[in-house]
Amino acid sequence: MTTNLTVNGKPVTVDADPSTPVLWALRDHLGLTGTKFGCGAALCGACTVHLNGQATRSCVTPISAVAGQKITTIEAVGTDRVGKAVQAAWQKHDVAQCGYCQSGQIMSATALLRTNKKPTDADIDGAMAGNVCRCGTYARIRAAIHDAARSLA
Ligand code: FES
Ligand code: FES
Repeated sequence: MTTNLTVNGKPVTVDADPSTPVLWALRDHLGLTGTKFGCGAALCGACTVHLNGQATRSCVTPISAVAGQKITTIEAVGTDRVGKAVQAAWQKHDVAQCGYCQSGQIMSATALLRTNKKPTDADIDGAMAGNVCRCGTYARIRAAIHDAARSLA
C-alpha cells in the first residue's frame, strides 16, 4: 500500500505497510539516513524529526498518521534561519562527540528556538529532556542553544 508524505518540502510516496514507523520510511525507503534509530520506544530522541514544525519521535509514529503533513529531517533543517543558526552554534561549540544522538538534539533544539526565542536553562533542560546523549554533551548543547538564541536576536 502506498502513502503520500511531504518530506523536506517535497511530495514523496512510500510503498509500505501503513503501520511502518516514519523512521524506517525515511531511512529505508527514502535514503534519508541522518535520522537515527536508538531505542525504538520514544525513550532516547535519536529519531527526532519535525512534524509540522514540532519535535516528534519518528520511531513510534506510523506513516498512516502523517499522510499529507509536513515532515522535516536533519537533512533540511538548515534550510531555514533557525535551523541554520543552531547548526552553526553546534559547530562553534564543537558539541558532537560520537555524534549518534546529535541529529535528534539539533531537531529538538531548533523546535525549541522556533517557539521560545530566549530560553532559560530550565526551558532548555525541559525541551531537551527526551534527548539522551550517552557521551554526556549536555553542557555544550545548552551553551550552543544559548548562543544560537543570541545570534537570532
Ligand atoms: S529511536 Fe525514537 S526515541 Fe529512541
Ligand atoms: S554525542 Fe555520542 S551519544 Fe551524544
